[in-house]
Amino acid sequence: MLHRHPHLETLGPVTPEEARLLEKLDFSRLPRHIAVIMDGNGRWAQKRHLPRVAGHRAGTNSARTTIETCARLRIEALTLYAFSVENWRRPKAEIEFLMQLLREYIRKEMPLLQRNNIRMRFLGRSDDLPEAVQRDTREATEALAKNTGMVLSIALNYGGRAEIVDAMNAILRERNGHLVAQGESASPAALSSCSGRPLDRPVCEAAPAPRPFSPITEEDLARHLYTADLPDPDLLIRTSGEMRVSNFLLWQIAYAEIFVTETLWPDFNRARLLEALLDFQKRERRYGAIHAAPPTRVAR
Ligand code: FPP
Repeated sequence: MLHRHPHLETLGPVTPEEARLLEKLDFSRLPRHIAVIMDGNGRWAQKRHLPRVAGHRAGTNSARTTIETCARLRIEALTLYAFSVENWRRPKAEIEFLMQLLREYIRKEMPLLQRNNIRMRFLGRSDDLPEAVQRDTREATEALAKNTGMVLSIALNYGGRAEIVDAMNAILRERNGHLVAQGESASPAALSSCSGRPLDRPVCEAAPAPRPFSPITEEDLARHLYTADLPDPDLLIRTSGEMRVSNFLLWQIAYAEIFVTETLWPDFNRARLLEALLDFQKRERRYGAIHAAPPTRVAR
């Protein structure tokens, strides 16, 4: 009955290997959100005696296949780790190549993203990116904003700890802004440190008036993350065999199933993606309970 499934028709021609994997896939139990650590580009190039950047270029083909397949399988959200806050430590030439490659990729893939009704966003500290990258990413987000299908997030200058710190600072800013708006006293020192930039003039010279302690909740924090309106990832895929989460979506992967494959990212094709989905479907997700339970308020 393979050819009758509505999702399958949109996948287009499949290889015999893909067809065998698709036969086993339960389309009603696909992850809502898949996150991917695309690792192994350098090793892929090294094995072929090519410069590392050739691995990154080859990696864009895997990104395209993964994006298109997930969109056609009606996955709600796909998040790809393209550049971490730690990646600035790489040689300048490699960083410049990656930024240029990303700009090229956005431009080249726009028709595919539109055709597949994909929305796009970028997660990370965008202010520290080169101006041209900031402009291109902004324009791509705007150009795809009216689409209604999968949300593709590209983590760019992203760090999981940085994201949590940014969320905490956003909460502090909101709360202190609220105090100032109400004319209550707030310490200038606290205000300047929470906003990250000094204020022009002190808001209030007096010592802070005692006020009820209002603790930050998990929901408050989740609402201020870069991924605020997305479900948490159900499946985290990491290529090239390393058993690490590398500062990726630290808060959001609390209950994610982790799939690590030895396959290097440039070799990660549609069959390898289907294998990851099948492996996901074998897991019993318990969210801390004894039996598999549907997600609750805490575990989405
Ligand atoms: C990790 O491989 C990969 C990266 C740091 C960059 C990922 C970028 C791409 C796949 C290209 C463009 C991105 C998109 C979203 C289209 P590595 O260099 O750490 O490999 P190694 O561990 O083998 O050295």
